Amino acid sequence: VARPLVERILDLAARAPSGTNMQPWRVHALAGAPLALLSSELLVAHDEAESGATVLESPYRYYPSPLFEPYLARRRKVGWDMYGLLGIAKGDKARMHAQHGQNFRFFGAPVGLIVTIDRRLEIGSWIDIGMFLQGLAIAARAHRLETCPQAAFAPHTELIRKHVPMSETEIVVCGVALGRADSAAAINTLRTEREPASAFASFAGF
Ligand SMILES: Cc1cc2nc3c(=O)[nH]c(=O)nc-3n(C[C@H](O)[C@H](O)[C@H](O)COP(=O)(O)O)c2cc1C
Repeated sequence: VARPLVERILDLAARAPSGTNMQPWRVHALAGAPLALLSSELLVAHDEAESGATVLESPYRYYPSPLFEPYLARRRKVGWDMYGLLGIAKGDKARMHAQHGQNFRFFGAPVGLIVTIDRRLEIGSWIDIGMFLQGLAIAARAHRLETCPQAAFAPHTELIRKHVPMSETEIVVCGVALGRADSAAAINTLRTEREPASAFASFAGF
């Protein structure tokens, strides 16, 4: 995936609306050797965290703890559906750890994007980043590429800071794998469910 195409997709994604047009997104795009180096260091850090040698701390909380219904059940379902497709049994911690580690290879994608935000910004700007990420995913598909947003990178903000030109106030929101889909891969046969609009929306005056 050549740099002009990545830039084109980022330019399209940046047409996303943002509150008062603040455009709070920042992106660090990696390919080739810099991507491979970051991946290998992240995989080491991933193993160290598993063994308890280091403790990772995310710069933000994605989920509340404890999680509650109906979100807990949905989260569990997608996890077990995915591990089921991969033949990973419940409790097989070693294989679950290895599968989680695939995140740090950007699932083999040729381009890895690190999306950051200035930590001084507020929740509104995080909404804007969500708009940007959705635009990025759709713009990629318009160019026959696929994406996976990956919050898995956030707890590794400090390691990532050593690899990309992030300022002191920037924190990692997520990574995004960008590449061509491998339709033969079992994991890509996963079809996730959605609640219908009638379950999450209310209507009046129609
Ligand atoms: C902000 C964000 C972060 C995510 N982080 C990860 C991640 O770290 N690893 C991963 O494999 N998938 C990640 N996902 C993908 C979700 O798990 C996935 O979108 C969801 O299960 C629905 O599946 P679908 O997109 O295939 O419909 C993330 C999605 C979003 C929007």
